[in-house]
Amino acid sequence: MQRALGEIEAFVHGLDRSIEDERRRLAREVHDQLGQLLTALKMMVHRALQGAPGREQDWPQIEAVLGEGIATVRRISAALRPPLLDDLGLEAALGLAGRQFAERTGLACEVALVDAGQLSADQANQLYRIAQEALTNVARHAQARRVRVEGVAVDGEYRLAVEDDGVGMAPQARSSLGLLSMRERAALAGGELHVGSGAGGGVRIEARVPLIATGGGGG
Ligand SMILES: Nc1ncnc2c1ncn2[C@@H]1O[C@H](COP(=O)(O)OP(=O)(O)OP(=O)(O)O)[C@@H](O)[C@H]1O
Ligand SMILES: [Mg+2]
Repeated sequence: MQRALGEIEAFVHGLDRSIEDERRRLAREVHDQLGQLLTALKMMVHRALQGAPGREQDWPQIEAVLGEGIATVRRISAALRPPLLDDLGLEAALGLAGRQFAERTGLACEVALVDAGQLSADQANQLYRIAQEALTNVARHAQARRVRVEGVAVDGEYRLAVEDDGVGMAPQARSSLGLLSMRERAALAGGELHVGSGAGGGVRIEARVPLIATGGGGG
């Protein structure tokens, strides 16, 4: 009991800390990246406006710096935006996360979800976060080439799995915050997390959460 409480406390602390870390990272990015870019731009435009002979070559550089600024703003606002989950639903939101993951990592990422409409909003949110952490782990630890995210309703429960074809869980691998938080999230959604091996020898993370029967199927 004491240990379980301790673990929950560590989990909550960890969440707080990761939110704090993320805010710090974004603040740094706004300050260092955007601040610097805008300062540089101001100087370049100032010089170019003075029309000093030979300063025409500044314009392509100004254009490049502006492009960088736009990309930075996109990155920061994407990180700040709450997940598209509420608008899109789990299937589309994970589909998008999968495409972004593939783009970022170069891994082949396939997302195949059905039946997700039967999940509660909170369950969908927990499963989204579980899949996110599982994908992060694949990128960090698995040395995989492919990863597959699949979700389906079976026998009154929803099963969401993330399976990679990487090196598998090292025997001496130690659970850190990631696995702990996935377990906690599965529990918060009323279910549990299974960590096992995939068909190709990689890791398979599967969250199983109960579906609440929604009074009668008709209409
Ligand atoms: N897909 C995977 N393939 C291989 N090993 C994995 C995979 N996922 C997790 N592991 C192993 O399990 C360990 C625990 O994962 P966990 O997510 O808890 O911690 P972490 O990713 O190391 O750190 P963090 O707390 O930042 O998530 C990892 O350090 C890694 O050794
Ligand atoms: Mg992790």
